[in-house]
Amino acid sequence: MIPKETVDKIFEAAIIEEVIGDFVQLKRSGTSFKARSPFSDEKTPSFYVVPHKGIYKCFSSGKGGNVVNFLMEHDKLSYPEALRWLAARYNIEIVEEEQTEGQKEASTERESLALVATFAQEYFSDQMLNTEEGRAIGLSYFQERGFREETIKKFKLGFCPDKWDEFTKAALAKGYELKFLLQSGLSKDRDGSPYDFFRGRVMFPISNVAGKVIAFGGRTLRTDKKAAKYFNSPESPLYYKSKVLYGIDLAKQAIVKQDACYIVEGYTDVVSLHQSGVENVVASAGTSLTEDQIRLIKRYTKNVVILFDGDAAGIKASFRGIDMLLSQGMNVRVVGFPDGEDPDSFAKKTPSSELIAFLKKEAVDFIVFKTNLLSDEAAGDPVKRGSMVRDIVASIALIPDVIQRSIYVQECSRLLTIDETLLIQEMNKVVKQELRKSGHVDRIPDPVIIPAQQPQRKDRIQIEHQERDLIRLLLTYGDHIVHVPMESEDGQEVEEEITVSEYLIYEVEADSLAFSKPTYTQVILDYASHLDNAKFPSEKYFATHHDQDVSSLCAHLITEQYALSDNWELKHQIYPEKEDEKLLKAVRDCIGRLRLRNIQLMMREVNEQLKDAELKDEDMARLMARKIKLDKAKIQLSTYFGTAILDV
Ligand code: CTP
Ligand code: MN
Repeated sequence: MIPKETVDKIFEAAIIEEVIGDFVQLKRSGTSFKARSPFSDEKTPSFYVVPHKGIYKCFSSGKGGNVVNFLMEHDKLSYPEALRWLAARYNIEIVEEEQTEGQKEASTERESLALVATFAQEYFSDQMLNTEEGRAIGLSYFQERGFREETIKKFKLGFCPDKWDEFTKAALAKGYELKFLLQSGLSKDRDGSPYDFFRGRVMFPISNVAGKVIAFGGRTLRTDKKAAKYFNSPESPLYYKSKVLYGIDLAKQAIVKQDACYIVEGYTDVVSLHQSGVENVVASAGTSLTEDQIRLIKRYTKNVVILFDGDAAGIKASFRGIDMLLSQGMNVRVVGFPDGEDPDSFAKKTPSSELIAFLKKEAVDFIVFKTNLLSDEAAGDPVKRGSMVRDIVASIALIPDVIQRSIYVQECSRLLTIDETLLIQEMNKVVKQELRKSGHVDRIPDPVIIPAQQPQRKDRIQIEHQERDLIRLLLTYGDHIVHVPMESEDGQEVEEEITVSEYLIYEVEADSLAFSKPTYTQVILDYASHLDNAKFPSEKYFATHHDQDVSSLCAHLITEQYALSDNWELKHQIYPEKEDEKLLKAVRDCIGRLRLRNIQLMMREVNEQLKDAELKDEDMARLMARKIKLDKAKIQLSTYFGTAILDV
């Protein structure tokens, strides 16, 4: 944990235009900076940095936020990773909270292993490029496979000579501890004398998301079948197979840009596709996909395309892994290759533009693919057909989104010419079985089709929208003064001078307007406590708040208002003239809408209670009175808005 004070310090020190300027060429434009978006290939600059608010905004992609959000987005870092990055750039020491002795030891252990891995990668590269054996055997192998020089560099490919202990000796001579050489699997021990694990192999370094080498795959150059084709580093505190995807460090930006990720089987498939211009590609490298790997992809996109080589049996073997993708809410498509081809061989003989077109054209929805494959197999065999239907339906049942599920049910009913309701029944059976097996409640998918859910969903969005409006007004115009007409005690009309924040917070408290998310309430309370100290917190204060939920909400809200127009410099003074009047209306509208919503919710509750057949008379009277009161309030508000308000 990075302590709150340090987070504040980092935000204070970080100069947003300086940090973003590290990645993007910024041009001053008034009080802000302008550039071409790093998130899309735009021609006219629509990317802005606004230092005094501590935010950036990108119109072409809609992204926006504070300096930490930028790093998270641009470099695909996690929140703490981004903070650490800034701390390093601005020389701020992070003294971690609650780090036990054990944790400290573990982190220095990982650091030592990382140092060893980096040394090894450099050693293997050097051996390949700068020794005779390396060039003659290693480099020429890669060249024969069609890997170009820049590709070899990009993937940091290397070669370990076929010697007994040369690597180990070199590492020890450089001062790396034997303990870490053994732990990383790069060296082995035989009766007290260490030797090299990888010998006479070409080396594929495996990196983590940040691009740090953490392990290796080494391919044999022998053609006999005796040696395993690949040797891989064993797991260590630095390298957990199930959490790593080969190529992710080089693919992540392209995955975001394309909003899709290709998944292949092998190291060479990744390298070849990348070289052919398909950069959004990763491999699970030897294991079937794990949940952690899926989560990693999901940080960047929800769309995956699996590239299959091989026969139907091989393809069917990977169905389980794909089911896991579905249950995590990913959209899955698949591409098959012509007989005898894999992505690597196919990419090699296909021009880049054709390859890209092929991948686009051939991608089929996984459920459709599975349905077609299985139904071909089961043709004419009723028993097989039954189990096939259950199999397909089981996959569909895993999809978390209710609407998507119902679309698939329709589609499969069409493909299999089976009645839709039959499929639904079958699906419910599968779901029940799963439930009984797992005893889980939180993974129950909702029933297949419940039309009543849709309006509810819309409601929720609207409510949030209104709440966000209020917070946006508070953040952006909190210190502005408005003149509110009021009735004085002796019945006279007077104008009261009040700030927007006082007005909003007063109304929220007076009406006990509740918010649907704790973060919203948190912002209001935080703002109110500043007011109690006779201060107005700045937009920057919230946009760079030490609580991540608050800062990302606020940074987002502050930038959101610019999203409507690229002429935002004008827009950003939304209320330039007659500011007071327009602002007052905006504030009142906002409160009015929230209040209306509150009334509607209370009405709904009263109506529910009135339905109770066993209601006592006095309760009935009380509820009716309340209903009338609410009705009146609603009519008042409708008059204010000048529209009839629909009943709930
Ligand atoms: N693999 C492994 N150990 C093996 C064989 C394969 O770890 N003994 C993993 C490797 O990650 C490999 C992937 O499975 O990249 C796919 O295997 P394969 O298709 O045989 O290897 P390729 O990478 O395609 O290598 P090549 O093109 O040189 O055959
Ligand atoms: Mn291959």
